[in-house]
Amino acid sequence: MFSNKDIEQFANLETPFYYYDLNLLQRTLSDCSEAAKVYNFHVHYAMKANFNTKVLQKIKLTGFGADCVSGGEVSKAIEIGFDKKQVVFAGVGKSDKEINNALDQDIFCFNVESVQELAVINELAAVKGKIARVAIRINPNVDAHTHHNITTGLDENKFGVNSWDLPACAETLKVSEHIEFIGIHFHIGSQITNLDVYKNLCVRVNEFALWFEERGFTVKLLNVGGGLGIDYHHPEQQIPDFAGYFKIFSDFLEVKPGQEVHFELGRALVGQCASLISKVLYVKNGKKKNFVVLDAGMTELMRPALYQAYHKIENLTRGNKVALKYDIVGPICESTDCFGKEVEQPVTFRGDLYAIRSAGAYGEVMASKYNLRDEIRFVYSEDI
Ligand code: LLP
Repeated sequence: MFSNKDIEQFANLETPFYYYDLNLLQRTLSDCSEAAKVYNFHVHYAMKANFNTKVLQKIKLTGFGADCVSGGEVSKAIEIGFDKKQVVFAGVGKSDKEINNALDQDIFCFNVESVQELAVINELAAVKGKIARVAIRINPNVDAHTHHNITTGLDENKFGVNSWDLPACAETLKVSEHIEFIGIHFHIGSQITNLDVYKNLCVRVNEFALWFEERGFTVKLLNVGGGLGIDYHHPEQQIPDFAGYFKIFSDFLEVKPGQEVHFELGRALVGQCASLISKVLYVKNGKKKNFVVLDAGMTELMRPALYQAYHKIENLTRGNKVALKYDIVGPICESTDCFGKEVEQPVTFRGDLYAIRSAGAYGEVMASKYNLRDEIRFVYSEDI
């Protein structure tokens, strides 16, 4: 919820911009950290969700590690001050340059996604005379029951090592002198709201851990990835149920003495802390449709255009007395540049301020320059 003072301040700023509520971020991080501590679980923040500098600094201060998916993210994590021993590097297409950079930084672990990648990391580590710690990312063929574009753990997805490739993987591990196998990694998808999915994942994790142990490997690390969803329909219910989420893993994972359980949460930590604030440029009342044309578009927040994702949209200037249905669209020359269709809103006028809520995850980071748009702007709650 925004106070009248917030809204007055927004009116003085050039739109569109992301507004970061750093207090809410802090509360979310503390909640998650406390809930994880109960079970001695380790959290790595999935940087891809948001790498805004102040957001990262707060996350680092919470003591979380960093889950990176590119050389750029590894470098940024280290520049921000994340402990190298808490940096993990996943990704289905790590380039030689990225692997070399991560080896030079002595990061904690590579989450390896294919047998071929394993051999390449071994070769590159050999040249440097180093030993690379790796976890094998296994594709467990568990349905995350989320949007198909953000499902990653099914046989048809490109991610991870499929179960039929595990024997070859084990053979490669045995002959790779510059690799230290430390455990197994999973990530089955994002925006998961049906938590039963995680019970199914735990069953598969237990099976795969046993598979490796039966072949003489010590599985020190169980990394179960991220994916915990947020409530886009009720942004005011801002902090996800971390305690309930971690409890599932405590109840269903068979954790042996000496084993560590790691998580890679992105959206759940940052999703609710930002809104995209935009101004109404034009209102078009038509025969079939009414349109509100905002000064923000898919170039600032891509999720609705890319995944038909729902974000709650609010007219900040006129309150919440709904009167008309509008399609809320952006200025980009694409028909998919639409934040919501037939959305009930108060009667809207040029100059009204709109907020698109729950935009902290995969928002600012996915902004693009398409149509040669301005660089995306952002403000922090503590600066206004
Ligand atoms: N770990 C790995 C290996 C991942 O690929 C991801 C996200 C995460 C962790 C963090 O997932 P989270 O906790 O944030 O769900 N752009 C899409 C989401 C893509 C997710 C990619 N991987 C969206 O806007 O919905």
